[in-house]
Amino acid sequence: MEKKNLYIQTFGCQMNVQDAEKMAALLKDTGYETTDDPGRADLIIVNTCSIREKAAQKIYSQLGRFRALKEEKPKLIIGVGGCLAQQWGDRFFQRVSYVDLVFGTHQIHRLPELVGALEQTGERKVETGFCDHVRSLDIPAQPPPGAISSFVTIMQGCNNYCAYCVVPHLRGREESRPLPEIVGEVETLTRRGIREMTLLGQNVNSYGQTANDGRDFADLICALGEIPGIGRIRFTTSHPKDLSLRLIDCFGKVVPLCEHIHLPVQSGSDRVLRRMNRGYTAEVYLEKVAALRKVCPEISITSDVIVGFPGEEEEDFRATLDLLNEVRFDNLFSFQYSEREGTAAAGMDYKVCDGVKRERLRILQALQAEHTLVKNRACVGHTENVLVEGPSKKESGEMTGRTRGNRIVNFPGRRELIGETVSVRISEAFLHSLRGKMEEKGAADVH
Ligand code: SAH
Ligand code: SF4
Ligand code: F3S
Repeated sequence: MEKKNLYIQTFGCQMNVQDAEKMAALLKDTGYETTDDPGRADLIIVNTCSIREKAAQKIYSQLGRFRALKEEKPKLIIGVGGCLAQQWGDRFFQRVSYVDLVFGTHQIHRLPELVGALEQTGERKVETGFCDHVRSLDIPAQPPPGAISSFVTIMQGCNNYCAYCVVPHLRGREESRPLPEIVGEVETLTRRGIREMTLLGQNVNSYGQTANDGRDFADLICALGEIPGIGRIRFTTSHPKDLSLRLIDCFGKVVPLCEHIHLPVQSGSDRVLRRMNRGYTAEVYLEKVAALRKVCPEISITSDVIVGFPGEEEEDFRATLDLLNEVRFDNLFSFQYSEREGTAAAGMDYKVCDGVKRERLRILQALQAEHTLVKNRACVGHTENVLVEGPSKKESGEMTGRTRGNRIVNFPGRRELIGETVSVRISEAFLHSLRGKMEEKGAADVH
């Protein structure tokens, strides 16, 4: 088989990164080896995201950079996949004339066939149909050799239709993988030496609703917790309305399950939550936080917030700040509302102007920075179990890893520790990381 080079660039969420991994695996079977130099590529795939306008703009400017390569090497194939491809379909050709292939989120499995046809005919193609069963869901995760952690896709799509969000429009209906298939994949990864699995889906809490065997996400977590030798288990992302008491209980009893949950709240105002179609009130959210802390007092809770959703008044924004003060998140991702074509919010009145959004974001982030720092400082003097991921990017001679609560820890150490869980006594706290000194290998707790 003729050897050809593939360069893949991904944008957006972890689901896109996983999809790109699957694309590389599929194309490998047809002779494409991945390269990290786009200049050497015979095929470039840009796996796109459309979650906010900024994400889309970044992609257009990246594609602009590939234009020169295409002019130099006319046989170069440029393919665009992912959510923006799904959204734009053949409109992509009008905007970026030198793209050869546009394929949607349900067409990944057809990539070898589509690329093969292009190689033969040179005819550009658009494939963005939805399927009842997303075939790429069946492809297992393929972390690179030596990896110590892996994402495992357990479901894809979303049925929630939050008013601001394009995901359900671009990823289609929710589909869960069968439980035994996921358990089998995690067993294989564990045997391969993967020490940390992050279960992935747009809304993992509603896992199982399409699997038809009555087993839900809590059942899946319990089943995975039983796998001999399993390392850490994490999951992302949770929807508060679907966070069940049974799942909350898992944090008190499933030992490999890390004490961290990412639980996007989006707003602290009931009026805004209703307009967002989130399906819970601030009070219900706070009750779930209290329940989590009751079964697992040390749990670290992180969240997402959108500021400037249409109709968000000063008073609504203050309710969000109040919620932040009440919960005291360990960390927060916050965004200015970005209007997306085809969503319910795009048709709503009372848009908030950019200046106000920017100012609200600044205030929110300053408050959260205080909270994060206080939380991080509280770790000083304590010993944390750290799964060592690799050398620290900043300091030579230092290693970096994560606590079970998902905090980054840097400490002096050797490369041989990669993949091990060690005890680190924390001595310093910063906004984005902790620093400490290794005490001993965490023989008692391999998680
Ligand atoms: N499925 C996940 C992730 C959704 S995207 C979930 O439900 O949480 C990640 C975050 O991007 C969302 O939680 C939300 O805070 C933000 N987001 C989504 N659409 C947005 C939009 N139109 N404008 C600004 N932020 C948005
Ligand atoms: Fe988007 Fe809401 Fe679905 Fe998350 S739960 S992907 S925010 S529609
Ligand atoms: Fe982006 Fe699609 Fe993920 S819009 S955030 S790549 S599901």
